[in-house]
Amino acid sequence: MTIFLTGGAGYIGSHVLLCCLEAGHKVVVLDDFSNSSPEAITRVEELTGERVTIWRGDIRDGTLLRQIFDRHHIDAVLHFAGLKAVGESVADPLAYYDVNLGGSVTLVRAMAAAGVFRLVFSSTAAVYGDQVLMPLTETSALAPSSPYGRSKRMVEQVLADLCAADSRWSVAVLRYFNPAGAHSSGRIGEDPRGVPANLIPYAMQVAVGRYPELVIFGDDYPTPDGTGIRDYIHVMDLVQGHLVAMKYLADRTGYHVWNLGTGRGHSVLEVIRGIERVINRPLPWRIAPRRPGDTAQCWADPARAAADLGWRTSRGLDEMLADHWRWQAQNPEGYLS
Ligand code: NAD
Ligand code: UD1
Repeated sequence: MTIFLTGGAGYIGSHVLLCCLEAGHKVVVLDDFSNSSPEAITRVEELTGERVTIWRGDIRDGTLLRQIFDRHHIDAVLHFAGLKAVGESVADPLAYYDVNLGGSVTLVRAMAAAGVFRLVFSSTAAVYGDQVLMPLTETSALAPSSPYGRSKRMVEQVLADLCAADSRWSVAVLRYFNPAGAHSSGRIGEDPRGVPANLIPYAMQVAVGRYPELVIFGDDYPTPDGTGIRDYIHVMDLVQGHLVAMKYLADRTGYHVWNLGTGRGHSVLEVIRGIERVINRPLPWRIAPRRPGDTAQCWADPARAAADLGWRTSRGLDEMLADHWRWQAQNPEGYLS
């Protein structure tokens, strides 16, 4: 197949790119490199020995998208391009509606014009918002609590409406929980611009000495050790979820939603202990007040993906942290470009 991968230089996109190439697909990437480096794609090419066609540009550029669909015979689209920082989305909501919602509408319009109707969309557990009942199933209430989460939920609604209006569409919405880890080579991984907002990238940068200590946001949650619980999923398990979802869509139409999580939560202190095992020394940390907007706990019920797709995660927290650490230790400053 020829796959069009938007945001293919990013953290998750670059890992998906690697596995698509290894599976024998041709891949065309569109990325504006606003939150990534072309070096990620170069490294994927080195790891696979395959060449990637790269288009540098904006997902909102309909003319460019038409050009890409004219030039390549695309079979399926995996749509990762977008903005993902929750705090930034509160400060600059228009950017999020513009890129995430507007970009997705521009993309599906170009797809329809080119007669391409198979799409896998990167959604997020943030569409559920603050929920009391765990685990979260695909039918749990949806109450996103940030413009980021709302922009993703809106795209889901657009895609559902599209599938209802035109039976040629074949759409998978994948709601990721907390991706972490890296490819076992240590050559590609998460390289956040600026100060990392998420726990594992921040803690890893403390471990390489870029920050003096990890700040734990609250130890007074109603959880066994008082710190927040999340469902961390290895990025390579997440990648497999995309490959099986794409296969599922090959002979089906309609709108399909799956949670991609492990079904198991870990507290901040458990993650810290895991990192200490991997780096073989203590990680400096201190307790601070809760981060506004955080929830006590969040984990997935991945049963639907298991039943429909035969997909299950196979990598645990220790492997995730070891792989993340290999990437971070070998690339303390990230891609450096
Ligand atoms: P990322 O920022 O590493 O990757 C996104 C890619 O899209 C980057 O390469 C960036 O340069 C590109 N991009 C951004 N705006 C663009 C635009 N206007 N035009 C073209 N390219 C653009 O993020 P990621 O972690 O790889 O996430 C990929 C997708 O998964 C995103 O849509 C994100 O919302 C979603 N997601 C991520 C997480 C997570 O924790 N990483 C969780 C849930 C959902
Ligand atoms: C964040 C996003 C969420 C997104 C998810 C995956 C917010 C409010 N939510 O969620 O929308 O889907 O990432 O990308 O940003 N923590 C610390 N110290 C830190 C960083 C985090 O103690 O320096 C704690 C948090 O309080 C939380 C846990 O670690 O309990 C995980 O935090 P994080 O990695 O930011 O993920 P989420 O909060 O799940």
